[in-house]
Amino acid sequence: MNLDEVIKNSIIQNQAPIGFDEFMQLALYYPKLGYYRSGSEKFGEKGDFITAPETSDLFGFCLARQCAQVLKKTDDILEFGAGSGILAAQILFELGRLDCLPQHYYILELSAELQHRQKQTIAKALPELLDRVVWLNELPTGFNGVVIANEVLDAMPAKRIIQKNNKFYELGVGIEKDTLTWQVKKEVIQEGAVKLPPLMSDGHTTEINKQALAWVDSLYDALENALILLIDYGMHRGEYFHPQRTDGTLRCYYQHKASDDPFINIGEQDISTSVNFSDISDQAKLSGFKVSGYATQALFLISLGVDEYLLNEADENKRISLAQQIKQLVLPSAMGESFKVLALSKNRHVKLIGFKEQDLSHKL
Ligand SMILES: C[S@@+](CC[C@H](N)C(=O)[O-])C[C@H]1O[C@@H](n2cnc3c(N)ncnc32)[C@H](O)[C@@H]1O
Repeated sequence: MNLDEVIKNSIIQNQAPIGFDEFMQLALYYPKLGYYRSGSEKFGEKGDFITAPETSDLFGFCLARQCAQVLKKTDDILEFGAGSGILAAQILFELGRLDCLPQHYYILELSAELQHRQKQTIAKALPELLDRVVWLNELPTGFNGVVIANEVLDAMPAKRIIQKNNKFYELGVGIEKDTLTWQVKKEVIQEGAVKLPPLMSDGHTTEINKQALAWVDSLYDALENALILLIDYGMHRGEYFHPQRTDGTLRCYYQHKASDDPFINIGEQDISTSVNFSDISDQAKLSGFKVSGYATQALFLISLGVDEYLLNEADENKRISLAQQIKQLVLPSAMGESFKVLALSKNRHVKLIGFKEQDLSHKL
């Protein structure tokens, strides 16, 4: 059975449209066939999209500087959804240079194929540190240290909602003439940290992500004394529900081309929605976390001295290349402003150097 048939079967068995979150779960994570569970190349030039660590080592080096500020001698790092493993290699390399290596670098990765790729990347880049890297299949207990998730929240299945007759309804996925189509389901009621958008005109469509909030909540119990760094494209509620954003934030990527159609290239294209950082921060506070900072990726990296790597590079060709990479990471037209960093802490309340130049927590 191919993935298209799996999804149609699940709608038929449900005898009603399935939620978009259920569709996204199948399209991205169905064993062996889902986008993140199959063997295809995803990250980098040969894949479908480029993430910040794939763009430049300086991204991981700066994150390492932030880790170094708070890591204690017996601490660990835990990275979620580690992609090709390149971010882990960058962070471990720089923490080695700073003489601040964690006891363990845990990776919680859902895909066995990606676990294998991560092992290869780290073994090639840092064979001497491979024994510190441990792959987990579930949340640890009593974790102490730093938790990192780069572009993980945006890959968590979200619900789509649509305004009709001054109410919000869930927009599900059904079948019409053997083709997957959007279909309106039941009314959505506000609950927990999820706030519904203000009423705009009928047809206004957006997303809510309960799964991401449940994930934040489950993290609280797994951690004892920790800092969490969540990096993702997203915005605070006011921007997320801006009246001009009438069609939400759903984006699909196939071979570096963006589209808003999740029903094509199923299993071969990435599907994501932007992160509503206000919902995440509200949930985090409800769970017991403290918000320790919120900034654009640009100002976070600048606070951590991304430009120093350029200034300290003696080789002119390498300097030119680093300058290009920094532009990609910090320019507003590239990743600088659409990506944000949210820091949450449990029992580790430190004034973080990453938010020295900017802390937009008040906007959340
Ligand atoms: C866009 S990729 C980002 C990869 C990598 N962090 C990077 O920056 O290159 C999203 C990753 O998040 C992972 N992911 C999604 N939900 C997750 C969860 N609940 N726990 C761990 N990983 C998850 C996916 O499997 C996928 O590998």
